[in-house]
Amino acid sequence: MMTPQEYKDALMWRYACKKFDPAARIAPATWDALEEAFHLAPSSLGLQLWHFIVVDDREIREKLCEASFNQTQVRDASKYVVLCARRDVQDSDLLAHINRAHEVLNTSEERMQSAYAKYKGYSVFWQGDEGKSWMESQVHLAAGFVAAAAACLHVDTCIMGGIVPAKYDEILGLEDSPYRTVLGMAFGYRSPEDAHALEAKVRYPKDKVISHC
Ligand SMILES: Cc1cc2nc3c(=O)[nH]c(=O)nc-3n(C[C@H](O)[C@H](O)[C@H](O)COP(=O)(O)O)c2cc1C
Repeated sequence: MMTPQEYKDALMWRYACKKFDPAARIAPATWDALEEAFHLAPSSLGLQLWHFIVVDDREIREKLCEASFNQTQVRDASKYVVLCARRDVQDSDLLAHINRAHEVLNTSEERMQSAYAKYKGYSVFWQGDEGKSWMESQVHLAAGFVAAAAACLHVDTCIMGGIVPAKYDEILGLEDSPYRTVLGMAFGYRSPEDAHALEAKVRYPKDKVISHC
């Protein structure tokens, strides 16, 4: 267990890494823990309407780099993950989740039926343009969750929103799949040449963004 101070130190240590050391690779056990963070990230209603693609192929990385305004993190980081959201939600998705809960928790038939009715009642969440941004927000949340986990393991990250999602979809062959690209995320170790690592954090005073009542 980390102490509160160790956790704060990890948060201060984290920054959006602009230049990764291409020679510094993440050890398999560390990477496995970070994949587990993706796997265990929280999601609305627990529906996990996402997919995470770990791109190790160098050629694909080069193409994704071009589709990211040539931001070098995409090419140089030890690991690069494309975070995708579902394009839409079908009844079969709700049933898949209910069946999975049944498998894991051995829920009764009655509970499964009431869960299905509950999910159907929430279906306004995933409809239309608002539904699209609701699904994207799930993926953004996963990115934040994993970034904090990585900081605890002293692995550098950069969440990459400066990408062309449609181009990513084309490169990864997602166009006819149920998923579409939302974000990229680079993982690795900072280059000693990355001056951003030493910059002070630009944040408003805490009492401007957090209030208590
Ligand atoms: C959704 C999102 C998208 C981002 N996209 C990029 C990006 O494309 N390239 C980049 O270098 N940093 C990107 N960042 C990092 C932010 O610029 C950075 O977190 C912010 O400036 C605060 O700095 P810090 O994280 O170093 O404290 C992104 C961050 C978020 C949350």
